Formats: sequence, C-alpha cells, structure tokens
Amino acid sequence: MRVVLLGAPGAGKGTHCRRIVSQYDVLHLSSGDILRRERAEGTDLGKQAQSYMDSGTLVPDGLIVEMMSKAVKAAPGAGYVLDGFPRTVNQAEALDQSLADGESGIDVVINLQVDDDVVVERITGRRSCPKCGAVYHVKNMPPKQEGICDHDRAELVQRPDDTADVVKNRLATYYEQTKPVVDYYKAKRTVHDVDANGDADAVAALLFEKLDALSN
Ligand code: AP5
Repeated sequence: MRVVLLGAPGAGKGTHCRRIVSQYDVLHLSSGDILRRERAEGTDLGKQAQSYMDSGTLVPDGLIVEMMSKAVKAAPGAGYVLDGFPRTVNQAEALDQSLADGESGIDVVINLQVDDDVVVERITGRRSCPKCGAVYHVKNMPPKQEGICDHDRAELVQRPDDTADVVKNRLATYYEQTKPVVDYYKAKRTVHDVDANGDADAVAALLFEKLDALSN
C-alpha cells in the first residue's frame, strides 16, 4: 500500500505513521526525519537544509525532490507511507511525474485536520530521543521518567524548530505552501479527511477505519 499522509505541523503525521508501519508492514518515509539525519551526519544536504529548517521555512524543492525520489524508488514492494512530502504543489507534481515513470502510483491520500491552537500546544510540548528517535509529549504522551527515553534512557531534547516563535512561521508556511497540496490532490482524486484534534487513540481509530476499508 502506498499512502500520502498530509497535515499541518504537529497534526500527528509522525505519530500515526509509526502506527501505520506496524499494522501494514510498509516503510515510513519522512522528509523531516531524513533531513534531520543528514544534518546529524553533517552532509552537504544537511548543511544546506539547516537554516531553512531552523527558521520554519521550506527547504528548496530541488533538494527535496531529488532526496525523496531516491527514497521512494528504493522502497520495497510492500509500499510506504509518505510523511511531510509532498509539501508544495511543485513537489506533488514531481512525485506524480516520477511515479508515472514507474509501475505504481499512490493508493490513498489522507489529510489530518487539526486546529492551530492544538498545533502550538502539541509542538511546544514535544520532546524527542536523540538516540532512537522516539517522540513524546510532556503532557499528552509523557515518558515514564520525566525527560528520559523509555527505550534507551537517553536524555530527551526539544527540536530547535519547536519553539513558539518558529511554530508561528511553520504554520504560516503550511497555509501558504502546503495547504494548496491538499487542493491539488482534491482536484484529482479522493482525499480522506480525518479529524486529528482528539487524543492519539481516537485519531488512530478514525484513521484505521479508513485505511482498513481501503486496503480490503
Ligand atoms: P517535519 O519534521 O516534517 O515537521 P512538520 O511537518 O512540521 O511535522 P512535525 O514533525 O512537527 O509534526 P507531526 O505532524 O509529525 O507531529 P507528531 O506526530 O510529531 O519538517 C521539519 C522541517 O523540515 C520543515 O519545517 C522544513 O524546513 C523541512 N522539510 C521537511 N519536509 C520538507 C519538504 N517536503 N519540503 C521542504 N522542506 C521540508 O506530533 C507532535 C506532538 O504532538 C508530539 O509530541 C506527539 O506526541 C503529540 N501528538 C501527536 N498526536 C497527538 C494526539 N492525537 N493527541 C495528543 N498529542 C498528540
């Protein structure tokens, strides 16, 4: 199954992709995670992406399309779930073009819908493990011991782009450049809207209801 999961920053894309991966045995392809890995490894791409990411603006399409086209082409036959890509209409067109050149297209597009005040609360409260990538929230999904990863005991960190000021920019960028991607898909195919304001289990139930129906 090949899924595109759309949604504003903090909508829960990463959280729910991890659940989709364990249920459907597909690959999680997150453009944000790949970029953070490139930064941690100090690659040219990581260095080029740094200032855009830290200020909450988008990394240029040319860099992203090349990076994600490679990841999509290398994905195994069971499929993948795309998280954070495509994020501009140019990226969506490039993805369609590269899939049209291959054998398989996207099966499902899901749009997680979340209110702006919920976004700010979720993002400013997010903490991540620098070692294994596990994601927590100080109130909604706290680790067993405050500030410490349940899996490997590493000290949790806050992403540099998870401050209140940068979240404002990320939301503005979302409305200006990424919301049009939802309209792009809606003009071409069915987009399944999911209310993502509830707690993670409630959102997962709505999401899996859709995915189960579509995968049968
Ligand atoms: P990226 O990493 O993709 O960030 P994002 O889209 O802003 O999404 P987030 O990771 O912030 O949120 P999420 O929806 O995954 O939420 P999560 O599940 O973690 O991109 C970062 C940057 O990289 C961009 O700003 C840009 O610069 C660059 N970039 C990436 N892709 C790009 C592209 N294609 N083109 C150009 N530039 C690109 O949840 C958030 C928090 O809420 C967590 O703490 C979680 O525990 C909690 N939570 C989640 N769901 C719930 C729930 N239902 N109830 C309660 N709490 C919840």
